[in-house]
Amino acid sequence: MTESKRLFIAACLLASVVPAFAEKDTKEMDMFIGNLISRMTLHEKLGQLNLHPGEDIVTGNPQASNLGAIVAKGEAGGTFNIMGAEKTKALQKLALEKTRLGIPLIFGMDVIHGYQTVFPIPLGLSCSWDVAAVEKVARISAKEASAAGVCWTFSPMVDIARDPRWGRMAEGCGEDPCLGSAMAAAMVKGYQGDGMKGNDEIMACVKHFALYGAAEGGRDYNTVDMSRQSMYNYYFPPYKAAVDAGVGSVMTSFNTVDGIPATANRWLVTDVLRNQWGFDGFVVTDYESIYEMAKHGVGKGAKAASLALKAGTDMDMSSHAFLDHLETAVKEGKVTEADIDVAVRRVLEAKYKLGLFQDPYKYIDPEREKKELYTEENRKSAREIAAKTFVLLKNEGNVLPLQKKGKIALIGPMADNRRDICGTWSMMAVPSKYKSLLQGFRDAVGNSGEVVYAKGCNFHEDRKVDRWFSPYSASLKDERTEEELIAEAVEVAKDVDVIVAALGEGMQASGESASRCELTLPETQKRLLEALLATGKPVVMLNFSGRATVMDWESEHVPAIMNVWHGGSETGDAIADVVFGDVAPSGKLSVSMPRSVGQIPVYYNHLPLGRPAGNDWKGFQVFRSNYIDKDHRPLYPFGYGLSYTEFEYSDFNISSTELSDNGEIIATVTVTNKGDRKGDEIVQFYTRDLEASVSQPVKTLKHFERISLMPGESRKVSFHITPDDLKFYDYNLEYVAEPGEFLVMVGPDSERLSTLRFTLKE
Ligand code: BGC
Repeated sequence: MTESKRLFIAACLLASVVPAFAEKDTKEMDMFIGNLISRMTLHEKLGQLNLHPGEDIVTGNPQASNLGAIVAKGEAGGTFNIMGAEKTKALQKLALEKTRLGIPLIFGMDVIHGYQTVFPIPLGLSCSWDVAAVEKVARISAKEASAAGVCWTFSPMVDIARDPRWGRMAEGCGEDPCLGSAMAAAMVKGYQGDGMKGNDEIMACVKHFALYGAAEGGRDYNTVDMSRQSMYNYYFPPYKAAVDAGVGSVMTSFNTVDGIPATANRWLVTDVLRNQWGFDGFVVTDYESIYEMAKHGVGKGAKAASLALKAGTDMDMSSHAFLDHLETAVKEGKVTEADIDVAVRRVLEAKYKLGLFQDPYKYIDPEREKKELYTEENRKSAREIAAKTFVLLKNEGNVLPLQKKGKIALIGPMADNRRDICGTWSMMAVPSKYKSLLQGFRDAVGNSGEVVYAKGCNFHEDRKVDRWFSPYSASLKDERTEEELIAEAVEVAKDVDVIVAALGEGMQASGESASRCELTLPETQKRLLEALLATGKPVVMLNFSGRATVMDWESEHVPAIMNVWHGGSETGDAIADVVFGDVAPSGKLSVSMPRSVGQIPVYYNHLPLGRPAGNDWKGFQVFRSNYIDKDHRPLYPFGYGLSYTEFEYSDFNISSTELSDNGEIIATVTVTNKGDRKGDEIVQFYTRDLEASVSQPVKTLKHFERISLMPGESRKVSFHITPDDLKFYDYNLEYVAEPGEFLVMVGPDSERLSTLRFTLKE
């Protein structure tokens, strides 16, 4: 029996109960951890604060690896991105049997949108506006990951992003704090389940705290400079929602906040996170951010490590700075051992809450791993959810849905591709098990039609850039010239009824370290599209992307466009379901689609201006806020998305035009399916504060509901407005609702809105 297990049992006996963290009785935990810490040497404590990367582990022989040696010396509290139960088991055994106290390791992983069953990227998921579905995604991801030894996921990533040049927009939920908060809470609940009691409930880690999505120029890792107003009102809410949902851990961001690296920013990590929001879990750095503090020019070595610890950061991912420098820092009086104990306690509490002291192998089950990954049931959920994330942007002449007959040409670099459909952060994907879009189409059409294929082009005309669009699909690169590839595609498409062009970004064109300056289709794809349009056949464009892209040319020339993001392992079937009309498209944009990179940032909840150009813009207006050479409005606004049916909004009314201090008024609208097929609609309510002490946005999403309507069916949808819904952080960062005039708006997107007025009374 290991020392820690012995201590654990002793503490339980003392408390005469089986510890159940969910009962909120933290007494046994405190006793157990206090006891353990009192027996730890300083070096053992620092070992617990070290999160060592897992890449170098070799199956079955962990001792031989660098990581194995570090674990055996008690110099790692955990590791991450180790793949598979066999390896985690071997490492856990080392920690338990080779170290003096036998403290179990915590195993983290970037399980961002699924494990082996891959769901759409989070940006796509947020376009479903389906909170229950997103909770289910996290639940299934936790079930699969936990079977393979993972007990901690570095998700949800909730960084608000208004700049699609930033590739990590793919990992978050878009531009809106209300939608982002709902998704953040849903993911935390899904991962952590019923308080991490079960062996398939894992700890979540909300990231990247904070403001990482506001990197200047959309260039990853770049400077962030922001007012406190923007932080509190627009960027902080999703992190706070995750904290309110009980997230167990928080990851700091790479950027500076007010000039201080987030990891060492005490105001951020202690005052805001812990004191204002009441977070009681542990804080881990993002990768080597302590080491990078030297590069930010704020200190290195013992100084950097002490600043981070003093700020409230508990665990050091990859820098080895706590392990290497905090002993010196204690000697130099920069930190005390008591400071270190605070961090150690938080890390050990996380292990305790996960039940690792009770059963260090709780999450490691090779049998479960064999049976519970990529099951039929999980695949079915992934297929259904993926279909909800696609956003139909244009459908002139009802080109879509297609009929499952005749001859269909499927053309493009995403058409017969099993890897890139998975999207960024899909390291546990097994593409050989997944269907390509081509296969999905052929299965859907069966013998009643024919689906012909040509690749048409590579992702990018510049080989050096192409490599980064899709580094894992080297075998897909075609050595033929662009002319040859296009000629083949045109030949293949010459006698078909319709062409579907599967274009856009490969999986690595978005995600970490994947910023782009140009957001239009690469030239080679555009030339292919032009050639396909020139055939005179109807063309449907499927845009695969991990960000909002610029499609002004396409929106003018292509009759039907659907944004399909990166839809995960079931993409092939899910797109076929929607393209052939078994399911009507229902996704709505969680991010504004710009017309041009020059407009960025373009987002719906902007502030009102003294000289606005207005929504009825028809051309350049002098001395107004607009551009000489292009419309200032987004091409497709936040919240936008079409269906195969039409929804009518009517009878918008409000229960009273006066809202009292502790009262409630109800805004109600009737939504009717006017078409002849079933469809889902996402009803959106916005408010506007017309006169406030600090200028407030022209509209702010406050409530949404996803409803399913049969042809001819109507439903009343309501928003119960209380003063809490009207609160914002004022100049002194007080969270207040100020009496005065308000608008409430409802509609199918952030632009087509009906408006009513009410007053919040003194
Ligand atoms: C990313 C994090 C991720 C970590 C561990 C970093 O580079 O920024 O989002 O969780 O690596 O893989």
